[in-house]
Amino acid sequence: MEYHTSEAENPIDILNLASLEGRVKERMEAGAFGYIRGGAEDEWTMAENTSAFNTKKIMPRVLKGIDHADLHTKLWDIDLKTPIIQAPSAAQGLAHEKGEVDTAKGVAAAGSIFSISTYANTLVEDAAAPDAPQFFQLYMSKDDQFNEFLLKKAVKAGVKAIILTVDSTLGGYREADIETQFQFPLPMPNLAAYSNSDGAGKGISEIYAAAKQGLVPEDIQKIKQITNLPVFVKGIQSPVDAEIAIQAGADGIWVSNHGGRQLDGGPASFEVLPLIAQQVAKRVPIVFDSGIRRGEHVFKALASGADLVAIGRPIIYGLNLGGAQGVQSVFEHLNHELSITMQLAGTKTIDEVKETTLLD
Ligand code: FNR
Ligand code: LAC
Repeated sequence: MEYHTSEAENPIDILNLASLEGRVKERMEAGAFGYIRGGAEDEWTMAENTSAFNTKKIMPRVLKGIDHADLHTKLWDIDLKTPIIQAPSAAQGLAHEKGEVDTAKGVAAAGSIFSISTYANTLVEDAAAPDAPQFFQLYMSKDDQFNEFLLKKAVKAGVKAIILTVDSTLGGYREADIETQFQFPLPMPNLAAYSNSDGAGKGISEIYAAAKQGLVPEDIQKIKQITNLPVFVKGIQSPVDAEIAIQAGADGIWVSNHGGRQLDGGPASFEVLPLIAQQVAKRVPIVFDSGIRRGEHVFKALASGADLVAIGRPIIYGLNLGGAQGVQSVFEHLNHELSITMQLAGTKTIDEVKETTLLD
């Protein structure tokens, strides 16, 4: 299955993140674009993910002597130039010939954290930019030996944390992939390194079928015992599940509904963030994703309990349009919007944003 995609290596001019989708649609193979853009069923939750940010308002404060915003923050011992990190996304070879290698380079240039997916088109040990923080996102397999193989590979590659994704034990009903009969055109080398199945020529549902459907809280401890690394649990939407995950040893909660790609008809991820933050009560860090497209969205998520936010599709679009520099341009644009929002809101630092109370 011949598949060719972008080889662009250039910064990109960005009016806003939402406009990137149309620019990529014009130049990307229809099946790949449908897979990246697509949400589940009516894409109601996917749309709600972004529109929900309008339900809360920022009260601007003045006369605070603020003449610039400082976006620096930290996660554990990791210094970050921005509270925005990249959400793990599979098969980045769909967007660019260099795939995850260029994404990692662009994310490192932005002073942020890169997370590589189990279903990447790059080996976990080949993606990270030198001296840059990398997380490994695990789709747990039914085969515990495979899980151990993957996790030990990730540890050896120097990843700083494991992300256990728990909201995708099977694929959401994504009609774009059905219409295009989408199948991954490129191999997933982290799968191939263990078995003869590399994912090429398969759809996401077939790939998921090999994953573990019956995930349980004890799986968190299993990962910690194998890796001795902190574990984020990604795909939490219920405060009850956040508590269960923390009791089971989770070192971080990643509030997400997978960008509306899984359960359609669920709430916007932003809608449940305050409830989960209240339940977590700062015991572990919270990453928030799904639907962030504006600096004011980042602001509102941080003011609602997130320590960091992650973006998915816009980074893949930046990768397609400009490679590593395109990814860096996406971060620079969103940081620019966030800086404007912070200054006009009268907040100089990320900690001040986190202490802000939004209006209903
Ligand atoms: C994803 N996402 C995802 N999540 C995960 O844990 N492992 C994965 O392999 C993938 N793969 C993936 C592929 C593509 C094409 C997309 C768009 C997304 C979900 C991702 O991490 C994140 O939760 C959402 O993308 C966030 O929503 P936005 O920013 O895309 O609206
Ligand atoms: C997806 C999976 C790979 O959203 O997470 O396509």
